[in-house]
Amino acid sequence: MTDPPCDRSDVSPAPPCVLVVFGGSGDLARRKLLPAIYNLASSRFLDERGAVLLLGAKPLSDDAVRARLAESVREFCTPPIDSALLERLQRATYYLEGPFNRGREIERLGTKLQELAARHDTSGNALFYLATPPDAFGPIAAGLGAAGLVRPADGQPWSRLVVEKPFGHDLTSARALDRTLHGSFAEPQIFRIDHYLGKETVQNLLLLRFTNGLFEPIWNRRYVDHVQIVVAETLGAEGRGAYYDGAGALRDMLQNHMLQLLCLIAMEPPISFAAEQIRNEKVKVLEAIGQVAPEEVARVAVRGQYGPGTIDGMPVPGYRQEPDVPDDSVTDTFAALRLEVDNWRWAGVPFYLRTGKRLPRRDTEITIQFRRAPLILLSAAQRQPPNRLVIHVQPDERIALHFHAKCPGPQIRLAPVEMTFSYRELDGAQRRTGYETLLYDAMAGDATSFHRADMIDAAWRVVNPLLDAWAAERPADFPNYAAGSWGPAGADDLVHRDGRSWRRH
Ligand code: BG6
Repeated sequence: MTDPPCDRSDVSPAPPCVLVVFGGSGDLARRKLLPAIYNLASSRFLDERGAVLLLGAKPLSDDAVRARLAESVREFCTPPIDSALLERLQRATYYLEGPFNRGREIERLGTKLQELAARHDTSGNALFYLATPPDAFGPIAAGLGAAGLVRPADGQPWSRLVVEKPFGHDLTSARALDRTLHGSFAEPQIFRIDHYLGKETVQNLLLLRFTNGLFEPIWNRRYVDHVQIVVAETLGAEGRGAYYDGAGALRDMLQNHMLQLLCLIAMEPPISFAAEQIRNEKVKVLEAIGQVAPEEVARVAVRGQYGPGTIDGMPVPGYRQEPDVPDDSVTDTFAALRLEVDNWRWAGVPFYLRTGKRLPRRDTEITIQFRRAPLILLSAAQRQPPNRLVIHVQPDERIALHFHAKCPGPQIRLAPVEMTFSYRELDGAQRRTGYETLLYDAMAGDATSFHRADMIDAAWRVVNPLLDAWAAERPADFPNYAAGSWGPAGADDLVHRDGRSWRRH
């Protein structure tokens, strides 16, 4: 048995604070935040002096939320559960009944925060986490400021605000929300979360590119033919029809998660790993994406909505039959897009993005497809697929390099082969929520994996022309793909027109 390659001896815990979760009786806290807190504590990334204060509209006692914490940990963390640790976390978990979505009620919080700061020796540091419906983001932030609960940005103790998605509904509403947040918090105190940036395989993209010498020389238009970013889900609206019908695939997945993946693939090397340097490079990518003119939308973007079909052998209803979805809804549950990043590195290299609900498989992957060899000397090579680096983000976390090799024997034959690195080699079968690193970073004040205001703005500027064009013209063919298929035929045409095709899953 060799030693695991990841050295875990050098662990520095994040500074102590009270984590205050607005929307703390909801699903995000239960499924993600509480298990993430346990996982962080169990790997010694959490200072023992911290506390968690859950805020919600339901009447719950401290004991009730402590029992919920234990249930969440047992359901979502890797066994065996450390019961002494769990008990310690339970003793540091509290509940306060709201609602806290109107500014003035927040004043009550101040007393509780002082009490917890003293009892848990947190120096007065507070991490406010907005896990509420988005219409409460602005009022809560304004209320925190008005109640005097936000410390100055440059001092100690600190106050920070973590804001969940969606950040606005379009460019105008995102800017309005930003103005409200900035009324109470300075930009370095605002951590706009994108849970994709917390996934280990996504975090690895930056390190893969900029700590290995191997990739950078070929990571450009001379060697890369095109890039595909695919986020396929088997899930449908999942009881979130009321939210989803006002959003759609372009807003829900593409404007945030997928454009962030694109940034990590396309960005220039930063001059250092400091948060602002990395975010500067990302925003440049978004700014280099050409704005789509209204008459171009039909050529570069395809929308879809699923009808009834079959997933894993089980019949599933169409989107319009889902709860809280109008039966004439024209919301996109599928979007495919062809983008170009107009800079010296990428000019002329298409980036194809495709995402959809109720597709045949859950699969998030990024394919870097390389150009063929400049001179094909063997006809057998002509028939082989081109070289590809495929980054499997989830559920199968691995990176595979596809090339071809000679089949043994006297005749020249080629076979496609792949070289694979799997995350399991580094991490065994640990269950992570994806929120561990993000919570740790917010507590440590590291904004690298969070959106900055100008990034949100630039991302909305990419998708806004498409949203406008789609809103102006009602799709006549919805639903246009069956649940369990790979989306509307138009998505294939989008790549076929360029003489390319989607990578087969
Ligand atoms: C969320 C979207 O941001 O991401 C959901 O609102 C989507 O609609 C989810 O299902 C996908 O996240 P993951 O981590 O399961 O790929």
